[in-house]
Amino acid sequence: MPTHRVAVIPGDGIGTEVMPPAQRLLELAGHRFGFAFEWQNFDWSCEYYARTGAMMPADGIEQLAECDQILLGAVGFPGVPDHVSLWGLLIPIRRAFQQYINLRPIKLLPGIESPLRKVPAGGIDFQVVRENNEGEYSESGGRLYRGLPQEVAIQESIFTRFGVTRAMNYAINLAEKREGRLASATKSNGIIHTMPFWDEILRELGQEHPLLEISEYHIDALAALFVLDPGRFDVVVASNLFGDILTDLGAAIIGSIGIAPSANLNPEGEFPSMFEPVHGSAPDIAGQGKANPLGQVWAASMMLDHLGHPEAGAALVDTMGHVLLETDVRTPDLGGCATTEEVSDALADAFATVTAEAVLR
Ligand code: NAD
Ligand code: IPM
Ligand code: MN
Repeated sequence: MPTHRVAVIPGDGIGTEVMPPAQRLLELAGHRFGFAFEWQNFDWSCEYYARTGAMMPADGIEQLAECDQILLGAVGFPGVPDHVSLWGLLIPIRRAFQQYINLRPIKLLPGIESPLRKVPAGGIDFQVVRENNEGEYSESGGRLYRGLPQEVAIQESIFTRFGVTRAMNYAINLAEKREGRLASATKSNGIIHTMPFWDEILRELGQEHPLLEISEYHIDALAALFVLDPGRFDVVVASNLFGDILTDLGAAIIGSIGIAPSANLNPEGEFPSMFEPVHGSAPDIAGQGKANPLGQVWAASMMLDHLGHPEAGAALVDTMGHVLLETDVRTPDLGGCATTEEVSDALADAFATVTAEAVLR
């Protein structure tokens, strides 16, 4: 039986609450579909930082490199500045393992009503391909004249032809496998030097794919269209920061930030990829049993797809749909009053009933 060695980093806040349901569903999927997991648990977090002065050990990346894939909850908690926790754990992992694609499906699940008016069931189904290694998230820059009236903060965006091209090629291939429509988030009408460069590369690549319908949207107008006409999108490609902001908006239009998943992919499979929900550690609800585990479970299903078990991945998504459609077991962010654990139990119960259908699809 294939055994997958998976690094588990629950992290902070609700990350530690939504991870157990995801592992539970993964175990069930393994039993049903004939594979197993060997979990490698890492307690790297803001608490770990308080104890040791670092978010992970000096050889943390080497330890993770021994694993096939990584499951992450969320990182960051009050008491440790976010730039310390994020540059100390999340961002180094994304970069060390060349997880240059952040794939974020924006799909309205059965049983969830979009907060947008007039969106029918199944009316939102697109993928955001976020460049995940460079762009606006650069280490170039800093703060000068701290504490003086002249104090200044400078940060340079770094867009490389190599980095932009590989992200766009991924998005192009994905669009060709779907409905053949690619929307690019740009801001070439602003005084931003990087975006005309981004557009230029897309147009060059587009010439090699004449059948693809490519549209460029200014990021501000694109944000409005996510609300006004989300049904028009198939694949959206965006820079690191634009993709970050768009996907919280995307999560909102499919019902809740607590649902949306995220796959930090090293598409070549040379290094582990990392699967996490779009949301963060939610300090405002941490420890109260209110966290929606669906984003983490959906991220786990993306890991199954990546591991080569698409039928098991589909079974997890079907299970979520089944619980949402057939029961009223849902957390407060979706208007219910169930706890994280009650949702976990409902998912485990439902898993047995939906699997057969999923296999047949
Ligand atoms: P957040 O996503 O943690 O929370 C935003 C809002 O959404 C909060 O009201 C929260 O209660 C709610 N929410 C989030 N996930 C939920 C869930 N599963 N179920 C129900 N409600 C949910 O964003 P934030 O408040 O901006 O950030 C909090 C911390 O998380 C910060 O330290 C931030 O840096 C960090 N963060 C980490 C990641 C990551 O690890 N990838 C992502 C985003 C934010
Ligand atoms: C995300 C998060 C991170 C990001 C933060 C926490 C650095 O918001 O994964 O969407 O901006 O990439
Ligand atoms: Mn984000």
